[in-house]
Formats: sequence, C-alpha cells, structure tokens
Amino acid sequence: MADNFILTILGGGQMGSCLLAGLLDSKWTDIKNLAVVEVNPDIRKKLLDANPTLYVSDAMPNTHGVVLAVKPADAALACKLAAKGSPSRVLSIMAGMPTSRLEGWLYETLATVPVIRAMPNAAAMVGESITAISGGSGVHKEDLDWAEEILLAVGKVIRVPEHLLDAVTGLSGSGPAFVSIVAEALREGGIAAGLSRDTATLLVAQTLRGTVELMEREGSTPEEIRKRVTSPGGTTAAGLRVLESKAVRSAFIEAVLSATERSRQLSRGV
Ligand SMILES: NC(=O)c1ccc[n+]([C@@H]2O[C@H](COP(=O)([O-])OP(=O)(O)OC[C@H]3O[C@@H](n4cnc5c(N)ncnc54)[C@H](OP(=O)(O)O)[C@@H]3O)[C@@H](O)[C@H]2O)c1
Repeated sequence: MADNFILTILGGGQMGSCLLAGLLDSKWTDIKNLAVVEVNPDIRKKLLDANPTLYVSDAMPNTHGVVLAVKPADAALACKLAAKGSPSRVLSIMAGMPTSRLEGWLYETLATVPVIRAMPNAAAMVGESITAISGGSGVHKEDLDWAEEILLAVGKVIRVPEHLLDAVTGLSGSGPAFVSIVAEALREGGIAAGLSRDTATLLVAQTLRGTVELMEREGSTPEEIRKRVTSPGGTTAAGLRVLESKAVRSAFIEAVLSATERSRQLSRGV
C-alpha cells in the first residue's frame, strides 16, 4: 500500500464516489494512488466491496492532493483532517463554501496550500457535469490545470472568477431540478393529451436530448431552434402563446436569480 497518495477524496458519499468512479474510468491514475477517507463505516464497506484494492479509511494518509467532498456543515472538521495529510493542493466541491473560509481552517495547521473551489452538478453521476472552477489566494494556472484534469473525469470544466460561482450555482447547480420541472410538466401535458405515461416519458427525454444535440452539433441558439419549429398560426405558436401569457420565461429567469441570491446568502453563512 502506498503511503503517499496522489489524491485523497475526503467524503465518499454521492459526489465523492462518483468522482472516484470517473477517475478510475478515465485512467487518470492507478487505483493504488487513490485513497478515500470516509467516516461512515457502511459507506467504507460499500466502497471496499466495489474496489477491494482501494485504500479506504477514516484516517487521513499522506497525500499530494485532497478533494473535499463532504457537506458544507462538515467543512471545518474536514479541513482539519485534510491538513493532517500535508497536501500540496486542495480542491473543494462543497457548494457555497468560499475559498477564504477553507483557507482559514487549513492555515491553522498548514503554512500555505493552494485551494481551488469547484461547482459541479448532479449530472456528474453520469459523467455529464458542467463544473466551474476558480482559485483562492495563491492559486496559479498549474493548480487550476490540476483541478481541471481531475474534474474532467465527470464532465466538462470551465474557469470563472470566484464571485461568479453563485451565479453558476443558480444556473447549472440548480439547473437539473429546473429542467426536471419542465420535463415533469411536459410529461403531464402528454398524459393529459391522451398518451401513456411510458410514451410521454420517452417523448420528453428524447425531445430534451434532441434539442441539446441541435444546440451542440449544429451550433443553433435556443432562439433559432424555437423560431425553426414555430410557424405562424401553427401548433407551437399556440403553445408558446400560453407559455408567454403565464410568464413562464420570466419565472425561469427569476428562478435562476433567486437560486443565485440564496447561494450568496449561504456563502455568507446566512
Ligand atoms: N450532490 C450534488 O448534486 C452536488 C452538486 C454540487 C456540489 N455538491 C457538493 O458536494 C458535496 C458532497 O455532497 P454529497 O451529496 O456527495 O454528500 P454526501 O453523500 O452526504 O457525502 C458526504 C460524505 O462525507 C462523509 N463525511 C462527513 N464528514 C467527514 C469527515 N470529516 N471525514 C470523512 N468523511 C466525512 C459523510 O458521512 P456522514 O453521512 O456520516 O456524515 C458522507 O458519507 C457537498 O458539499 C455538496 O454541496 C453536491
């Protein structure tokens, strides 16, 4: 067993274990260079059952890098534990936890360590996250490159200044729930119009997938796609008229702004 790991994931819950799976799939490094520190014995057992050669423990090993994948409420304790591994880089995926607060806890023990903050989303579970990263004080391009390489294992990565992470949280962090509301409503509409639940579910999923493909492969904007399927006096125009009369567009804009504001409050500890 190596006693100086390349990366230790602190917190082997939903996000920690999906990052682990992504890293193992992507061959970023060999399993012998990875460790997971987890307090919950049931989760430790599950991780070991799935990966018998993985280092899984409740104790922090020496490590080059640490990923903080615990809930924000456990951040202080996790930082103290992470510092015991003498890491040279720390990457946090905790929502609403500013690098300055993490640095405060880490610097109680460590002289200095670059802290990179990331905001992934739930699609990381299927390797389709869009993750925004930003660096705290003393973070260089190489540190962001390191974080990006790790997070590419669960999807795409963009770089933004830290003050924009609240907006990222409001859009792509909460986004899977917002899009799911659209999916639910469309499915209910299809059922109300006479389709079976299974057929309506399939139509919704493939319609969402197809729309994304039109945006990505053809480079079409959402406005272009909307105009292309809307002929004057046609079926889509009839449906869009209802959506506009119910201010659905405005409701989504307000939803993103409200989620962004809530993220700002959480970052301030409100
Ligand atoms: N899930 C998402 O879609 C999503 C998206 C973006 C960001 N995030 C962020 O990702 C982070 C993790 O979320 P999650 O959903 O993966 O949470 P989770 O499933 O609760 O996983 C966290 C795990 O860490 C363990 N833990 C807590 N304190 C620890 C410590 N000091 N040392 C070692 N292990 C410790 C927890 O054990 P116990 O359960 O026993 O406490 C739990 O098993 C959160 O900060 C969240 O904001 C999540």
